[in-house]
Amino acid sequence: MKKSLTLIRLCRLWFAFSMLGLSLPLGASPYQIGDITIPRKGADSPAFMPHAVFPHWKHRTRFKCFVCHDKIFKMKLGADNINMDAVRSGKFCGVCHNGKVAFAIGFDTCERCHYAPRKSP
Ligand code: HEC
Ligand code: HEC
Ligand code: HEC
Repeated sequence: MKKSLTLIRLCRLWFAFSMLGLSLPLGASPYQIGDITIPRKGADSPAFMPHAVFPHWKHRTRFKCFVCHDKIFKMKLGADNINMDAVRSGKFCGVCHNGKVAFAIGFDTCERCHYAPRKSP
């Protein structure tokens, strides 16, 4: 009798903690708090070019969500056709990475965005 009561208490404790866990940022996806590796969609895709990384958190400390969502990017990884031509012509990352709002795209900056090892196509 006593044993099963302790078990119930333990279960309640576990339940309480799991509820707490859900309400803590610990439950957030890495995309919400961390760095996003942008899926490769461009046709011109040499194997040696590392994936471009989007540091979500670093951008979020500077901009409200609505600056990007959904005007520039959909709120779903891979939902936009982000490729280098579009970025170069001032779309997606290129809206800001133009030398005015943020560092421009040039041969001295490729590696600032492209540093994740290739994994997906
Ligand atoms: C502001 C960030 C940024 C900079 C700087 C940047 N790129 Fe990209 N690039 C991207 C993103 C985002 C993608 C799409 C994701 C991917 O394919 O890695 C991309 C894709 C690519 C691709 C894949 C094929 C394609 O057409 O989409 C190549 C190749 C590429 N970039 C080359 C370069 C080169 C070369 C430079 C430097 C002159 C450069 N990039 C600078 C963000 C950047
Ligand atoms: C500087 C631009 C920028 C800002 C600001 C920004 N995001 Fe994002 N967000 C992105 C990009 C880029 C992606 C990837 C979109 C893609 O791959 O097409 C993304 C994707 C997402 C995703 C989808 C992740 C997934 O796994 O599908 C969520 C959720 C998200 N953002 C939430 C937010 C929230 C909440 C805020 C504000 C607190 C915010 N974002 C601010 C650029 C931004
Ligand atoms: C709303 C404007 C905006 C958009 C859109 C945007 N960025 Fe940025 N980004 C910034 C600003 C501002 C900085 C910080 C200033 C700087 O480093 O020039 C920055 C910095 C960065 C950095 C350097 C972070 C560090 O560690 O210093 C990377 C990498 C980067 N952005 C990649 C991207 C990629 C990839 C995209 C597109 C998927 C993108 N950004 C879209 C404004 C933007």
